[in-house]
Amino acid sequence: MTTMVHARAFGNIALIKYWGKTDGNANLPATSSISLALDSLKTETTIRQLSHGPDEVVVNGQNGQNGANQRVIRILDNWRSEGLLSGHWTIFSQNFFPTGAGLASSASGFAALIKALSTVAERKLDETEISRLARRASGSAARSITGGLSAVEIGENPSAREILPPREIPWGMVAIIVDDNHKKIGSREGMEHCRLNSPYYPAWVEQSRKDYKAMLTAVEKRDFTSMGRITESNCLAMHACMMAARPPLNYWNPATLAVMHHSAQWREEGLENYFTIDAGPQVFLLAKKENLEDLARRARNIIGVQQALTALPAGGAEIIACG
Ligand code: DP6
Repeated sequence: MTTMVHARAFGNIALIKYWGKTDGNANLPATSSISLALDSLKTETTIRQLSHGPDEVVVNGQNGQNGANQRVIRILDNWRSEGLLSGHWTIFSQNFFPTGAGLASSASGFAALIKALSTVAERKLDETEISRLARRASGSAARSITGGLSAVEIGENPSAREILPPREIPWGMVAIIVDDNHKKIGSREGMEHCRLNSPYYPAWVEQSRKDYKAMLTAVEKRDFTSMGRITESNCLAMHACMMAARPPLNYWNPATLAVMHHSAQWREEGLENYFTIDAGPQVFLLAKKENLEDLARRARNIIGVQQALTALPAGGAEIIACG
């Protein structure tokens, strides 16, 4: 019997954003999404069976009753109540990048956890089911199960599917960190606030559905310029929806805006790149692999930029060891 599993997953950054839910309990997305998994956003998680309860959770060195740990315990409780898991577990999870600052930490964290748990589940789970279970834990985590360029399409109980495997992806990203403090309002709370309090929310959902279809076509044609333009517009539409909420939700700081302006300027000079921003101040530049180092070097010269990390496409969640 397996009593220890060590799993790894990579975070992903969405080109078409998931922002809004149709149902709070099943964690069903209101918008379809497409993202790129990135090798610089790695989480490793070890689970070990305990002889008795309660479960023990340590996420990034933090144990105790914080929000992240309680979310993990709720997942274990759900799995047990559905007969998917037995016994109690110690969960040890470590991110290899700044956590909670809009760097997709919930995607890689929950994907690694769900992948590890799937190995000790009471019945055999295929990748679709694992991705569904990851989506239930955190919407973006579904896409880190499959990795590469992955999509989650809205529906009754969606899972992610890989649209392009890493080896066929000629693009990567530069993650530009302009503030590594823990974000004040997490995605879960932020998207619900927009659904309830932003007059632009219905327009966001409608536009995003069109962007999703247009992005699938652009990817199919490997039309990088169209992909980039749709990525930027979709990101700005999501942030417009946030900013229009009452009270407003604004994740940007002056350096966020400075990077956005430089990105456009570099593009005009012939260095093709496109920005996207999640629920945090950090900026991600989408570019062809051969331009990533140049972009990172330039970004480091902008006032307010703390770090610029290049990131290549990564695969799906994996089991590294079992015992
Ligand atoms: C802005 O997946 O963190 O990064 O399902 O409530 O856990 P929950 O939300 P989460 O939201 C991600 C929001 C986003 C866009 C995206 O990754 O698609």
